[in-house]
Amino acid sequence: MNDAAAVLSVADAPYDAQAYRRDFPILGETVHGKPLVYLDSAASAQKPRQVIDAVRDVYEHGYANVHRGVHYMSERATDAYEGARTKVREFLNARHDREIIFNRNSTEAINMVAQTHGRRFLAPGDEILISVMEHHSNIVPWQMLCEEKGLVLKAAPVTDDGELRLDDFAAMLTDRTKLVAITHTSNALGTITDAAGIVRLAHDAGAKVLFDGSQAAVHMPVDVQALDCDFYVFTGHKLYGPSGVGVLYGKEALLEAMPPFLGGGEMISHVTLEKSTWAGLPNKFEAGTPMIAQAIGLGVAIDYVSAIGMERIAAHEEDLRRYATQRLASVPGLRIYGTAPRKAAVISFSIEGIHPHDIATIIDHAGVACRAGHHCAQPLMDRLGVTALTRASFGLYSTQSDADCLVDALEMAREFLG
Ligand code: ALA
Repeated sequence: MNDAAAVLSVADAPYDAQAYRRDFPILGETVHGKPLVYLDSAASAQKPRQVIDAVRDVYEHGYANVHRGVHYMSERATDAYEGARTKVREFLNARHDREIIFNRNSTEAINMVAQTHGRRFLAPGDEILISVMEHHSNIVPWQMLCEEKGLVLKAAPVTDDGELRLDDFAAMLTDRTKLVAITHTSNALGTITDAAGIVRLAHDAGAKVLFDGSQAAVHMPVDVQALDCDFYVFTGHKLYGPSGVGVLYGKEALLEAMPPFLGGGEMISHVTLEKSTWAGLPNKFEAGTPMIAQAIGLGVAIDYVSAIGMERIAAHEEDLRRYATQRLASVPGLRIYGTAPRKAAVISFSIEGIHPHDIATIIDHAGVACRAGHHCAQPLMDRLGVTALTRASFGLYSTQSDADCLVDALEMAREFLG
């Protein structure tokens, strides 16, 4: 069989979630004597053995600081670290490796853009447009910047279904809008925003666009060149990689124009006691010893999801979302929040008469792990008229059986507390 035929046969094979599950050791654990049913992948995804082994392998066989030594181990670690950057570049279809900045997580990446691009290029009276359904990490950094610089923060509304309508969004763009910072997929509702439409409208208005892709990059293919967005951020731990590593993608010209974020080693070209000059991209934004093993682990996580295929993961999760939505509809008193036509496998809900935290606590005793609370999206909770919701979020390893266990556990919670 030639290579093309081999690729075709993998892509055509049925999606084998059971086989993928065997790659995730933690899914074999029991919780309170019950098999773990992990429905909290939106908070943090579990890690396949390939990622765990890769991180261990770095420390056992290939670890030293990067970019600093001429010795074998440093060169080996540097090659692996920079190799991970290339994998991220390919994953996002960015033009150049130098457009990929490693940092701790999406939160740090957004703060980096606020404190560099925002501080340097936005002037008093300029506007930043976000949406009502942003995660706090895509609200608070902009509030801090607005307060410091005298900017105006506006938030586009969402419908009762949790949809961001382009006409509402367009109506809030003005000639003072300099930056649009919007989620690509809502962590609380799963809503997938019309990224291409947002970029078109924002660019027509002269604004740059940042997407918070923390939830999108894990559920579907992302192509930053096709989107033509200016910045895109995501985090490694939700993409089946280690925690402690995230990514900022930025168009090269924008990153070039931005001042550094943190000062220190590695981000300089030359230092005297009077003045320092900066290294080129991406080093200018990677001061200090980076998260070496974590970045290499993220590269392996990208290899892992790419081998399965992001389109196939998206199709599997969409089937699962439909199945789980339909099953949950049978639970008396249950209401799903977020029913936009395009949404990822993230389902938030309430059950009449039972507090979301109580639901999550009771179903935990059946081994079912769900998040309950405001999901770091308090303005969205206010918009929906709730203080908290319970959220089931699915990943590439989730199955219909997980959804069935959730429904059974919810029935038990109703009997116990209802
Ligand atoms: N942002 C993560 C979540 O939605 C923590 O749960």
